[in-house]
Amino acid sequence: MSDRGSFSSRMGFILAAAGSAVGLGNIWRFPYLAGTNGGAGFLFIYLLCIVSLCIPVMIGEIAIGRNAGSDAYGSYQKLGGGKWGYLGIYGILAGIIILSYYNVVAGWAFGYFLEISFGNLLNHQNFGEFFGEYVNAIGPIFLFSLGFMIMTAVIVSQGIAKGIEAANKIMMPGLYIILIGLIIYSLTLNNAMDGVRFYLVPQLENITLKTIFYALCQAFFSLSLGMGCLVTYGSYVTKDQNIVKSAAIISGADTSVAFLAGLLVFPLVFSLGAEPGQGPKLIFVILTQAFSTMGPIVGRIVGGSFFLLICFAALTSTISLLEVPAAFFVDTRKLPRKAVVWGLSGFIFVLGLPSMFSQGIIPFLNKLPVHNSPDFLSFIADLCDIMLISGGCLMCFFIRNRWKVDSLNKELAIGNPSYLGTALQSYINFSISWVCPIILSILTTLVVIDKFFGLEWLFG
Ligand code: PFF
Repeated sequence: MSDRGSFSSRMGFILAAAGSAVGLGNIWRFPYLAGTNGGAGFLFIYLLCIVSLCIPVMIGEIAIGRNAGSDAYGSYQKLGGGKWGYLGIYGILAGIIILSYYNVVAGWAFGYFLEISFGNLLNHQNFGEFFGEYVNAIGPIFLFSLGFMIMTAVIVSQGIAKGIEAANKIMMPGLYIILIGLIIYSLTLNNAMDGVRFYLVPQLENITLKTIFYALCQAFFSLSLGMGCLVTYGSYVTKDQNIVKSAAIISGADTSVAFLAGLLVFPLVFSLGAEPGQGPKLIFVILTQAFSTMGPIVGRIVGGSFFLLICFAALTSTISLLEVPAAFFVDTRKLPRKAVVWGLSGFIFVLGLPSMFSQGIIPFLNKLPVHNSPDFLSFIADLCDIMLISGGCLMCFFIRNRWKVDSLNKELAIGNPSYLGTALQSYINFSISWVCPIILSILTTLVVIDKFFGLEWLFG
């Protein structure tokens, strides 16, 4: 394992895995999904998914990776034999596809960071219109996304300790500081409390089957589960580490950032008298509008820092998304890291072009002939969500039927000898053997029906 590299410390692993988890998913996607799916009800179901399904899946993934000490494909292949390696390939493919569209959204955020910092954005009148025009301004977005992909490739090509770990150690604390500062500001605004109420007081009638689908998919996406990311990161974890504790810290860090992002966004939305269900443009429109009211200098500083924060968060996630396929080619195919990283980055960037052009400039890509006519980027995002929850479900079947829960327990006891025989152990075993496989199989089937045919098809 020595020439593969490993995290230099326990903190290094936790920061890198938390860095992977905390990203556009928390700051961009979580608030807009909560906004369109009932606010507090969504938050409630989201937290339920994290505790009952996601933390056990996360623990399972890290344990598989550490036990096998290989990339996603190599780990499943080594522990499962037969065709199980394909489960790793499935995850690697999901990672490649996620990165292709994720990098485009990161390009939008990078563009907003520059536009606000240079003072070009905040004197506009209609921020919704600006957003629509901006994401269709292909030249700049092409360059910003390309720039983002290059930054990712530079870091990943440096390897584990030097690149990935060092980048996260600086970026993660910076993120919390900026976020908390902005929340304090937003809570002082008029009507901020209406936003807090929308976000924190659940109204049960707002919870529908779709709330559950979106919350589950978002929880998997946000914690980087179901695609072998944590199998891959787990393979760089040393044997003295306590996996269960690390998983709790990582999920806590991720959930707290999503929670704080909501606590920032909804008071702003309500203080501006805006609509919470605006979809993907929510934070781009609402936040810039809020920054514009702060005056030219303060608005530029606060707005610039905020979008810089989003870029940091996105970068620590794109790093992990690229590391998953890169580790496969380095470990299993024995190819040199630098060549792999640059080759993959180029390929994934090109794969992202249809997503980049899907916001209106190419009409066909803007309304695909699929149920509900999504644009290409949303369609791909939905597809990836399905890959993640089904990937997580299959991982549970892998542990339950092939690797066996006993092997999982043995792995978890390394670095945590008092784990065996505890209530926590029983809970995790029960969740991985029964709760996750059953609930995730049912929900995956329903989400597929919902996304491709509409639930009406099923329920009339
Ligand atoms: N968790 C990241 C986010 O919330 O932005 C996205 C992500 C990264 C998903 C890595 C999956 C992954 F393997």
